[in-house]
Amino acid sequence: MGDRLTGKVAIVTGGASGMGLATVERFLLEGASVIVGDLNAENGRALLAALKNAGNTENVRFTRTDVSVEDDVAAMTDLAIESFGRLDIVFNNAGIGGAFGPITEIEVDDWDTTFKVLVRSVFLGTKHAARVMIPQDEGGSIINTASIAGMGGGAGPQAYSAAKAAVVNLSKTTAVELAANDIRVNAICPGIIFTPLMHSEKPEQAEEVVRELQPLRKRGEGSDIASMATFLASDEAQFVSGQEHIVDGGMLAAGPRVQGRFHNSRNLHRMVGITYGSTGQQASSRRL
Ligand SMILES: NC(=O)c1ccc[n+]([C@@H]2O[C@H](COP(=O)([O-])OP(=O)(O)OC[C@H]3O[C@@H](n4cnc5c(N)ncnc54)[C@H](O)[C@@H]3O)[C@@H](O)[C@H]2O)c1
Repeated sequence: MGDRLTGKVAIVTGGASGMGLATVERFLLEGASVIVGDLNAENGRALLAALKNAGNTENVRFTRTDVSVEDDVAAMTDLAIESFGRLDIVFNNAGIGGAFGPITEIEVDDWDTTFKVLVRSVFLGTKHAARVMIPQDEGGSIINTASIAGMGGGAGPQAYSAAKAAVVNLSKTTAVELAANDIRVNAICPGIIFTPLMHSEKPEQAEEVVRELQPLRKRGEGSDIASMATFLASDEAQFVSGQEHIVDGGMLAAGPRVQGRFHNSRNLHRMVGITYGSTGQQASSRRL
């Protein structure tokens, strides 16, 4: 595809499925060497087999990793150095839907597991990446998958949304801390992306939600997140750090969706003109 990541070494967690998998494929096409860390060894093996068929296994390794366990994250980071000699990019992306249900019923263990997989993982991924990148002294790019659920109250369960909000803030605080070492840290906030996690084998339901709530007609795919991750990983983004990058087909921009709901604004798209509020001046308009 290109050479935007030529010579760079990347770790992608959750790389055996969904947007992580799409990013692994894109990073390889852009010239990077990639360590894929995922809990699902079966999917990891399937990924390696597919890459082998495509004649591309030289620059990729899979390691079964639980991103919430520090020894696993340290071993995954060590594997990057052992295999490819350096580390430039870490995409902390693995995730689960986590605890759901009424706040009055959620079990503490389920809450804690959600935070371990979604937040502790990003802390550990960042900690071990920085331990390698700082002495390497050539900067680096850390990218964390948050969610539009972390930016408001209406897009996910409580634990998931709160955890993703924590990921956004952790991205900002570590971006400030690591800037002195030219290490950039950014969060990606996906909207509805058609991956196994999101549609849980009921894509038609997800498509209905998208039709109603998402301004752009295209449905979100893993490749849309891979595009943003590739930009943030590349030197093209060398002045971009500490931000949340929303990739949601315009969903958050549509905001409260009040427009068009009042009786007299239903025909707005068929009229053009100006109103003057309480000034006493007459509104003027014409029908289109
Ligand atoms: N799909 C969406 O609409 C959407 C929207 C916003 C954010 N996200 C986030 O995007 C990220 C990727 O999700 P996806 O949609 O590609 O889902 P996915 O289920 O297709 O992929 C997630 C991967 O993470 C792995 N994983 C889960 N827990 C792990 C652990 N403890 N250690 C290592 N690997 C683990 C899974 O095995 C899986 O391969 C997640 O952080 C998710 O919360 C997804």
